[in-house]
Amino acid sequence: MKQLFPEILLRWYSVHKRDLPWRHIHDPYHIWVSEIILQQTRVIQGTDYYHRFIRIFPDVFSLADATVEQVLKAWEGLGYYSRARNMHETARRIVTEYHGAFPDSYEELLKLKGVGPYTAAAVASIAFRQPVPVVDGNVFRVLSRFFALRAPMDTSEGRKEVARLSGRMMPQERPGDFNQAMMEFGALQCVPGLPDCGKCPLEGLCLAKKQNIVEELPVRSKAPGITTRYLHYLVWRYKGEILIKQRKQKDIWYKLYDFPEIATVRDKDPESIFSDFLQKEGLPRRLGAEVVISEPVLHQLTHRRIIARFYHIENRWFALTDPEYLKVPLHKLDTYAFPRLITAYMEKYPERFG
Ligand code: ADE
Repeated sequence: MKQLFPEILLRWYSVHKRDLPWRHIHDPYHIWVSEIILQQTRVIQGTDYYHRFIRIFPDVFSLADATVEQVLKAWEGLGYYSRARNMHETARRIVTEYHGAFPDSYEELLKLKGVGPYTAAAVASIAFRQPVPVVDGNVFRVLSRFFALRAPMDTSEGRKEVARLSGRMMPQERPGDFNQAMMEFGALQCVPGLPDCGKCPLEGLCLAKKQNIVEELPVRSKAPGITTRYLHYLVWRYKGEILIKQRKQKDIWYKLYDFPEIATVRDKDPESIFSDFLQKEGLPRRLGAEVVISEPVLHQLTHRRIIARFYHIENRWFALTDPEYLKVPLHKLDTYAFPRLITAYMEKYPERFG
């Protein structure tokens, strides 16, 4: 299997691989950027984000020179903004400590902020031809099916076992191609659910196929827990300006911008939330008669469901005194980085922000 598997896989890859921009370049900066983006989104959308990011920050020096706000703006819409902040910190460290050159070994790469085993293995193998196996969800699925492994995907034992098997089959002279071929094979052929095994060049060798358990693999040890949070946003417009704030709490969306808010763990009726707003900000109760409250908006993150409402107030002097709130002209709103939840709402109802 050590010979046959990579041979068949790489032949399949040479025919089916997608023409992706980072496949024409072996520079570690570009590989690193593409791999971090691809942890956030699928290849199709990832390609546009990649082009945009590289246009704004063509090399590690330009990324290091940027402000964190500029990096968050370039990342806007991708979600999981700690990845963007970590990239920024890592770019600065590479410039100051490594003279702008990425470290070329798996172990050194792993020391960089935001670079875990997956990214270190991808960069080391694709940019530096180090024979280190990459294990992501796609690779896990391919190998757990091929070897009919029941080791759970969400355990370090499971990932270690898959890394060991992949490392054993990896051709030493083409580690980057092998890792990318595994990921591509999982994304295009050995897909979750019911793959089209009739088209699979590995069908005859696949143990899950032989045992008729393709659909059951890979297994997880536990279902991911999803929590729900309720966010209530005050959208206050007055004479062409609007109030926003930067998020300072180190939970979701750190350093992104949004609106004055009340967050709750339980659903509460919007009118009483709004009177809480008025009380908290020392505002007159009569504003309660003027507010226009949006329908709830659902936003799904990996482990969290957010249900947001927007409370619109217009043509009233900004009586809020919190120095954290910024008054910005409406036409400048798009220069700030907002979470996707908010940009989607603004795009859906432009008249509420015009
Ligand atoms: N998913 C993440 N990185 C990838 C890569 N380099 N090739 C294919 N799929 C990927």
